[in-house]
Amino acid sequence: MESSQKDVVILAVESSCDETAAAVVRNGREVLSNIISSQIELHTLYGGVVPELASRKHIEKINQVMAEALTKAGMNLADMDAIAVTYGPGLVGALLVGVAEAKAVAYAARKPLIGVHHIEGHISANYIENTELEPPFLCMVVSGGHTHLVKVEDYGIYTIIGRTRDDAAGEAFDKVARAIGLGYPGGPKIEKISKEGNPDAIAFPRAKVAENPYDFSFSGVKSAVLNYINGCRMKNIPLIQADIAASFQKAVTDVLIEHAMMAAKEFQIDKFAIAGGVASNQTLRKGMQEACEKSGVKFYHPSPIFCTDNAAMIGTAAYYEFLAGRRDGWDLNAVPNLRLGER
Ligand code: KG4
Ligand code: ZN
Repeated sequence: MESSQKDVVILAVESSCDETAAAVVRNGREVLSNIISSQIELHTLYGGVVPELASRKHIEKINQVMAEALTKAGMNLADMDAIAVTYGPGLVGALLVGVAEAKAVAYAARKPLIGVHHIEGHISANYIENTELEPPFLCMVVSGGHTHLVKVEDYGIYTIIGRTRDDAAGEAFDKVARAIGLGYPGGPKIEKISKEGNPDAIAFPRAKVAENPYDFSFSGVKSAVLNYINGCRMKNIPLIQADIAASFQKAVTDVLIEHAMMAAKEFQIDKFAIAGGVASNQTLRKGMQEACEKSGVKFYHPSPIFCTDNAAMIGTAAYYEFLAGRRDGWDLNAVPNLRLGER
């Protein structure tokens, strides 16, 4: 398809954690290329993301990843209407690589620069394959760094209804995986081994936060798993990894689904989306699908490749920022603790 005059094509960059990614996105919802260079192998050696190594690897890869995104899209920099980049939240050194690169490229090619909030990117991933999805809707963002229940009022306008008080959902998966000897990254490994386990084998707690029923707490379930493991070791009871994994996964997904449906009911919104790395979990997706069907709510989720970190979602979020007239200056900086909705 030839670009018509009104098309908006954005080159997006993402480097907030351990994926170096670039994508070309047309009119917000059409992904022309989506290149992801994962550092998982590197960090697996250390059992988790090592920030300094992540930054160095981003520097090594970013030029190549951006060039590949353009080539795969069959375009060059001159065809771009803007350059977008994740500027927070995330690891500061990792974010800085993407921000510096995007600024340099935008300056050299005389293109507008748009800084994007990483979580806004995750939420926007839902627009890519659900072309009919428009705000308002509810979205649960469940990633390695964040667990947010968000009301998407309009493009770029968010109200946070609930958030985690301690560990993020993905972080809990990663920590429990490490404790039962599955290694990093924990989410996909727990999901895989859970298929052979009994989700009702061990009754792990489903934490409630008294002050706000929409807030989450996952440190309790994580501690309960650690206590269970210690108890088994002391009593010389064999540890059944699959049962622990399946029971833990059920405890976490039960809480997520319960909060989601409670919010859909209270806010009377019949569209619910999920986003972030944990949103690729099949138990969560299936549970959400069933719960939504029962309540007459339409359920949206991105394909797994758009759940975990990628730049296509940043290009999608940037498109709506672009339409709203938002541009950043050459002083754009990485903001490791950037809050959703803040500029
Ligand atoms: O969104 P993401 O790629 O990065 C952040 O922004 O944090 O999410 C990564 C997180 C990790 O904690 C990983 O263990 C988790 O998402 N994750 C999963 C699955 N795939 C990734 N958790 C549960 N089940 C999965 N299939
Ligand atoms: Zn992420």
